[in-house]
Amino acid sequence: MGITYFKRFRMEIDLLGTLFEVAPLPLAYHLLPWDECLLQEHAKVKYHSFCCEIDANVFPCLGDPEGCSRLMSDISRREDFVAEATWLVQFDEVGRSGSLSCGTIQGILDGNGSGSIQNVGVIPSHRGCGIGKWLILNALRGFRDIGLKKAFLEVTAQNTGAVRLYRQLGFRKVRTVYKAAEVACV
Ligand SMILES: CC(C)(COP(=O)(O)OP(=O)(O)OC[C@H]1O[C@@H](n2cnc3c(N)ncnc32)[C@H](O)[C@@H]1OP(=O)(O)O)[C@@H](O)C(=O)NCCC(=O)NCCS
Repeated sequence: MGITYFKRFRMEIDLLGTLFEVAPLPLAYHLLPWDECLLQEHAKVKYHSFCCEIDANVFPCLGDPEGCSRLMSDISRREDFVAEATWLVQFDEVGRSGSLSCGTIQGILDGNGSGSIQNVGVIPSHRGCGIGKWLILNALRGFRDIGLKKAFLEVTAQNTGAVRLYRQLGFRKVRTVYKAAEVACV
C-alpha cells in the first residue's frame, strides 16, 4: 500500500436567486424522501454507484457494501443530517412488482450554516437519463426550503463528468484541496 494524494475541488452554489426548475423525469422513475426504512436501499445504491469509480480509491468505504451501509448509517444519525436534502430514486421495472433503487443523495448542514451534499450516485445502467441532475436539484431545493443560503460539495478532479454536471447546474469552484488515501501499489 502507498499514500496517494487526490486533487479535489470544493464547489459552491448560491441558493438565493437560483430557480430549481426540475424537468420531470421519465414516468418510470419516482423520487422518495428520506425514511429510516430506506437506509439499506440508499447504502446499496451508494455501493453500486461508487464501487468501480475513482472515489472508491479516495474513500475506500465506498468500494465495500458493509462500508456503504456504515457510512449511510453514520450520515443519517448525525445531528446535522438534513432529511429534506436526502432523496432516493427508484425505477419501476416493466413486468415486475417491485422497484429498483437507482439513485441516491444525502445532505448535511456544515458548521457555517451551508448545505453540504454527500455522495450523489446513480447506478451505471441508469446514468445519462437526468437522474443525477434531478437528485442534486431536489437536494438544493431541500436546503433552500429549510432556510439555507449556500450549498457546496467536494468532487475529485479526475471525475470530469461529475465536475461538468455541477458546473452546468451553477456550482463554481472555490478551492482545491488534497485528500490523502492509501491505495494498493501496482
Ligand atoms: C455523476 C453522476 C451522479 C451523474 O449522474 P447521471 O444521472 O448520469 O447524470 P445526468 O444524466 O443527470 O447528467 C446531467 C449532465 O451531467 C453531465 N455528465 C454527467 N455524467 C457525465 C459523464 N460521465 N461524462 C460527461 N458528462 C457527464 C452531462 O453533461 C449531462 O448533461 P446533458 O444532460 O447536457 O447531457 C453519475 O455518473 C455517478 O453516479 N457517478 C459515479 C459516482 C460519482 O462519481 N458521483 C459524484 C461524486 S462527487
